[in-house]
Amino acid sequence: SQDPLVVFTPSGKRGRFPVGTPVLTAARQLGVDLDSVCGGRGICSRCQITPGYGEFSKHGVTARDGALSQWNAVEQRYRDKRGLTEGRRLGCQATLQSDIVIDVPPESQVHKQVVRKRAEARDIVLDPSTRLFYVEVAEPDMHDPSGDLERLRDALREQWDLHKITADLHILQEMQPVLRKGGWKVTVAVHLGDKENNPRIMQIWPGYYDGTVYGLAVDLGSTTIAAHLCDLQTGEVLASSGLMNPQIRFGEDLMSRVSYSMMNAGGAAEMTRAVRAGMRDLFTQIAEEAGVDLALIVDAVFVCNPVMHHLFLGIDPFELGQAPFALTTNSALRLRGDDLELNIHPSARVYLLPCIAGHVGADAAAVALSEAPDKSDDLVLVVDVGTNAEILLGNKERVLACSSPTGPAFEGAQISSGQRAAPGAIERVEIDPVTKAPRFKVIGSDLWSDDPRFVIEIGATGITGICGSGIIEMVAEMRMHGIVDAPGLIGSPEQTGSDRCFPDGRTYSYLVHDGTADGGPLITITNRDIREIQMAKAALYSGARLLMDKFGVDKVDRVVLAGAFGAHISSKHAMVLGMIPDAPLDKVTSAGNAAGTGARIALLNTAARAEIEATVRAIHKVETAIEPRFQEHFVNASAIPNAVEPFPILNS
Ligand code: FES
Repeated sequence: SQDPLVVFTPSGKRGRFPVGTPVLTAARQLGVDLDSVCGGRGICSRCQITPGYGEFSKHGVTARDGALSQWNAVEQRYRDKRGLTEGRRLGCQATLQSDIVIDVPPESQVHKQVVRKRAEARDIVLDPSTRLFYVEVAEPDMHDPSGDLERLRDALREQWDLHKITADLHILQEMQPVLRKGGWKVTVAVHLGDKENNPRIMQIWPGYYDGTVYGLAVDLGSTTIAAHLCDLQTGEVLASSGLMNPQIRFGEDLMSRVSYSMMNAGGAAEMTRAVRAGMRDLFTQIAEEAGVDLALIVDAVFVCNPVMHHLFLGIDPFELGQAPFALTTNSALRLRGDDLELNIHPSARVYLLPCIAGHVGADAAAVALSEAPDKSDDLVLVVDVGTNAEILLGNKERVLACSSPTGPAFEGAQISSGQRAAPGAIERVEIDPVTKAPRFKVIGSDLWSDDPRFVIEIGATGITGICGSGIIEMVAEMRMHGIVDAPGLIGSPEQTGSDRCFPDGRTYSYLVHDGTADGGPLITITNRDIREIQMAKAALYSGARLLMDKFGVDKVDRVVLAGAFGAHISSKHAMVLGMIPDAPLDKVTSAGNAAGTGARIALLNTAARAEIEATVRAIHKVETAIEPRFQEHFVNASAIPNAVEPFPILNS
């Protein structure tokens, strides 16, 4: 008779094996993705499977109800200690008896799909940089003079097929007591290596280590630094945290930081120290929040713009401040935690995504990784809105990229009543077409300001100012209701029919909210504020328009707004302002913090690193500063929405 046939789902891989073959052995031979840390010794329980069709034999161990058990003695012990769900078996204990279909549940797959967050454009399949391996090491012998490390390496080769393993000095320092404490059984965390590095032992524990190792995905922005702490075995985000970039005290925007380094001897080094110290604070904070030991963070991925990239690496950004904006390197970098004075595992693997060009950094590369314009059938415009807008335009055929200096107005800076997004800031606005009075929402409350409960709900915080998304909606609403004209002038009370418009120097301002009676601020929109928004939005639009010229198109199929701020922009208002090209409103979507997502993809899926390196090499870079048409587009785009270009979809 024939050997039993086994079929694994979901992979569909199948084969025949002699009666008595452990499922794990069959899975390995067929290349089925079935996890194991203990190598089939019945310790780790990572190999759990469920019989789909057909059966395993019952065991001579009595179950609680007196019948024969579905589990063998090892599984029974495991069940008593940690619990094994009814119907589940350990793949290393269950053996093939007859034809059977076996399902490998997602938790038991190494390359499992990571739970997708809302707004994320693509799936992330886990392909972790670092994995845990339990090994039994040969004891030293007077007749065999090999060292403990050599015998550990032999064991990893024989039991796990891991070759060319290296270990840092700190592992050598702990290895001997750990091996002896574990009775020559240890668990090691091995970084599996990449195109520049051999596999490396990152940690070693006596016996079986029942924990996990962690990684960080970091978006280093000029204003904020945001990090996700992830479990490298499950892909789960355990904590997300952020802090203000401490370099802010050297200059609000990128160019002011570059000039700080030019004007002050040692200025660049000072900023490097500041950002690294901030990074350490953030890591302490996030590790505390998740209850994780910093030394178990063995991998970190960073995305940032070119100036942040250089300053974080300890490179003077001088050349980035002047044409031709040469980067020190635009390649991806593979470094160690201690190269950057990080407080995580000292030899943690650090990966920086490649930069696209002197003004288009690794953050834009991360956006390209998460939004994948290079895989899109339709023509997609991806705008990452911040103090510097990074713009990508492309489809499967080709992708173009540029950056445009929008300045900080979209973040509420340089606006008279502007502020950062924080409780008390106006973030949504509607102007009544008849009374021309605004109603608004502030951060921290779900109520509109004309709701009688609003005052109570906002409480002591009160209304403090207008944040970036609020100012965009405000200006767009003002334009829609005739308070501002196309060139960007606020009208008089007579012209607008609103006594909220009042003379303010040589122009008019619009009253949003008067909180002075309660000791609060007087919130107005001045004509200078409108100018600031016009400049910022014109820079954004002309960057996009320039890429469209290069592509030879005058419309795009869809628009993706990325960036933490992009998540809050209303697409209708963005289009009324002419920030983005005319497109059907349902084709304008928000991707949230796409750069952060890209960092997380590169952290969890190491194969994605090579992928984005290839994509970035193929992206065509456009330098806005030397394109004569940029100026022309900029002038036209200063009008609201635009002096020359019709917005047919918007106007319909
Ligand atoms: Fe570890 Fe089965 S492989 S318990």
